[in-house]
Amino acid sequence: MASISLPLLMKDAVRGKRSPVTCALKCGNQCAFGPCNHSDNASFRDIASAALSRRTMLGGSTAALAIGLAGTQGALAAPAGPVGTAPVGPAPAGPAPAGPTPHGTALDFTAIAPVDAMADEFTVPEGFTWHPVIRWGDPLFDDAPDFDWEAQTAEAQKLQFGYNNDYTEIQEIPDSDGTRAVMFVNHEYTNEAIMFPPDTGEDELIDIGMAAHGLTVVELERENAQQPYTYVKGAALNRRILLDTPFAVTGPAAGSDLLVTVDDPTGAEVLGTLGNCAGGLTPWGTLLSGEENFHGYFNAPGASEAETRYGLRSGATARGWELEHPRFDAHNEGYENEPNRFGYIVEIDPWDPSSTPRKHTSLGRLKHEGANVILAEDGRAVAYSGDDEVFDYLYKFVSRDPCVEGDRAHNMTLLEHGDLYVAKFSGNSPAAEIDGSGTVPSDGAFDGTGEWLPLVVDGESAVEGFTLEEVLVHTRLAADAVGPTKMDRCEDVEPSLQSRHVYVACTNNSGRGTEGKAPADEMNPRAENRDGHVIEIDEQGDQTSSTFAWNLLLVCGDPAQGDQTYFSGFPADQVSPISCPDNLAFDSVGNLWISTDGAPSGIGYNDGLFRVTLEGAARGRVEQFLSVPRDGETCGPIVRDQDRTAFVAVQHPGEDGTYEEQFSCFPDYDGKGPRPAVVQVLPTSEEPEHPFTDMGPGDEHYESVRWAYENGIAKGWQEADGSSTFRPLLPVNRDAMAAFLHRLAGAPEVDHPRSEPFRDVAKGQEHYDAIIWAYQMGITTGWPDRTFRPTQPINRDAMAAFVHRYAGSPDVPAPTERPFQDVPVNGLYAAEIAWLEAEGITTGWKDGTYRPLSPMNRDATAAFLQRMTQEQNITFRSLGG
Ligand code: FEO
Ligand code: CA
Ligand code: CA
Repeated sequence: MASISLPLLMKDAVRGKRSPVTCALKCGNQCAFGPCNHSDNASFRDIASAALSRRTMLGGSTAALAIGLAGTQGALAAPAGPVGTAPVGPAPAGPAPAGPTPHGTALDFTAIAPVDAMADEFTVPEGFTWHPVIRWGDPLFDDAPDFDWEAQTAEAQKLQFGYNNDYTEIQEIPDSDGTRAVMFVNHEYTNEAIMFPPDTGEDELIDIGMAAHGLTVVELERENAQQPYTYVKGAALNRRILLDTPFAVTGPAAGSDLLVTVDDPTGAEVLGTLGNCAGGLTPWGTLLSGEENFHGYFNAPGASEAETRYGLRSGATARGWELEHPRFDAHNEGYENEPNRFGYIVEIDPWDPSSTPRKHTSLGRLKHEGANVILAEDGRAVAYSGDDEVFDYLYKFVSRDPCVEGDRAHNMTLLEHGDLYVAKFSGNSPAAEIDGSGTVPSDGAFDGTGEWLPLVVDGESAVEGFTLEEVLVHTRLAADAVGPTKMDRCEDVEPSLQSRHVYVACTNNSGRGTEGKAPADEMNPRAENRDGHVIEIDEQGDQTSSTFAWNLLLVCGDPAQGDQTYFSGFPADQVSPISCPDNLAFDSVGNLWISTDGAPSGIGYNDGLFRVTLEGAARGRVEQFLSVPRDGETCGPIVRDQDRTAFVAVQHPGEDGTYEEQFSCFPDYDGKGPRPAVVQVLPTSEEPEHPFTDMGPGDEHYESVRWAYENGIAKGWQEADGSSTFRPLLPVNRDAMAAFLHRLAGAPEVDHPRSEPFRDVAKGQEHYDAIIWAYQMGITTGWPDRTFRPTQPINRDAMAAFVHRYAGSPDVPAPTERPFQDVPVNGLYAAEIAWLEAEGITTGWKDGTYRPLSPMNRDATAAFLQRMTQEQNITFRSLGG
């Protein structure tokens, strides 16, 4: 019996309506202990006065003029930016009707209605369908076992897709005609209560749980851009990065005494990565991932500010890893610094499975949501990153060196050295107008200016009293000292490559404006902010600038429930309700896509993916594209609008259930528990009424052919003129027969044999898997000379034997009289043919013959298989075996 009692650990540890499971497992019940940030910087008064001095410095007359002009009509107006800068938003416009698809993107859809938070459903717009690409436990390598709820092991999990997929990115493999891609996914945390049978041993629980954390790289393939991707087991780039995978530490804090442990006297090599949340794709094709809630994995003294500022506390952790692995208990001598080795941005090269992943200290140590890179005009890499905790900060890194086109080895080092900044925002409306309700101030916008306060400049600490290493390891403390703005949990921070504006998802903050906490301000304008907001930042000049203009693009919520919301002036009665923005993405024409985490406890609907128009009259329009199942969070959105497809990672579906009483069966809906999965959404293929030009209603066996085709058992041919044919009178070859039966059995995964059973069947040839499966299942034995003769037509007698064995080789008495006039009592497969007739699968020919040595035609085969399956309910081995 697993002795780690999750429900107990979660008891009384939850504020508001957030799932207690999320609180305990994702962020170590942080909210029960209050915010980590007790610094008293940036009170509202400071900000207001700073805003004044800032405006004076930057040119107060411009700001004042903008305010005056915008007046109360200026909901769409530009923020009052500093001197001579372009506004962030578009020009003011009249009432904005719901317009056509923005900017001609090919991804055209009608928004779905929000879905009730109790629904265990994945919902997509009409005309679209969804497919799981990969799910927790799916085997990644040739020697990886299939997932088995009842027989999980750590060894298996290390070779399988991890749990709770979050950040997801897909890059096409060059020269593959868009049919192959490499996908990167991280695995944020585990939920042992629904993953494991209750009798799982404690050690096993810990080992499997650890193996379900980390990162995955996996290849995908598809027939063409209209078809869904499937992952490729055993592909060359497939990789798991686990808690024993070495990471090289880079940047100025590498080798620091602050990172030294008894296992790593160099302070430059860390095993594993924890709490990976969002991430980003670099311009040089590597992936970044943010180590977010790492503190929940450590039992630490919690005696120093350096620990408490990160939520590190003394006491048993939710998963108890410290019981097995001393490094997770920072009380242990030699492991005091282990928690200092997590909380970084990690970089992984998915194109080189032997590469060493890295942790970059230059971007600081915080609860990094993720990081996203854009190149400045001079080629330097600018990375934005949010510290996802209530009242924490927004950061920017600027690389020392510029990106050099074509020099990937050099570009891979860009995040190792550079300057680090933290954001201070100023609002431009009077403090009295920001009353915490979310009411738009009289100048028509939540907006203002801001500055990037330096923490590291030119390779040196810019913070008095902090060494460079201290700034990069105790980054929160260093930031406190310079007075940045306390934010409502910055999640994804993404620059648009189209407009170069930067978008910040502030997901929520129930403590805003409550007693003893920072009050509402213009950039976090709602007290007890339940539904979050999205900030738009316009760097003043180049991306490396030290000043910026900002405005709120969205103040989220459900207008229909009376929430105080703001959609950049777009009519609130024409938007999809949205709550708790988390991850951001852009489509090819620059629309913003937002996935959410927490809507059920906010507006009572399941989380989802939303498109937000940024430009033109429909700026601020929010349209819901999909909704994830009960308890799930929508993560890792990828929008490939030119292919009319999108991807999301569905994290923690059904997380409030137990193993015995699961709340979700996503994505297989097979009566078992939920499996977090990456899902692709794509248009439903528009099937013609009749799929083939050489067959139609009225033709013999047409309905059977149609059944076989629609169920994926038999396929047709694409002819040169573009038409599709079935070629009903063509004989079925032996390999195709194996393929039909394999598909009929649900196309189970095939374990490839060490040595080939047939001399004339080799790996890679058509229907190889199906033939091997049929051999392994005893459906075919081949010929005594070890041939299978795959391209020979299958005769009707051998077909009877195949089908009989497929059914499980039920006992059949030897016939005492001829089953058909041309089948002698002791003829080859006479018993099987008699069984076929007795089961109603064949009626023979009208002349009373069976014609055992004739080949089987494709149409007659479809009829056999349909009768067997549909009329006689015979499925794979259902009669024995
Ligand atoms: Fe893991 Fe910031 O959400
Ligand atoms: Ca304002
Ligand atoms: Ca997140």
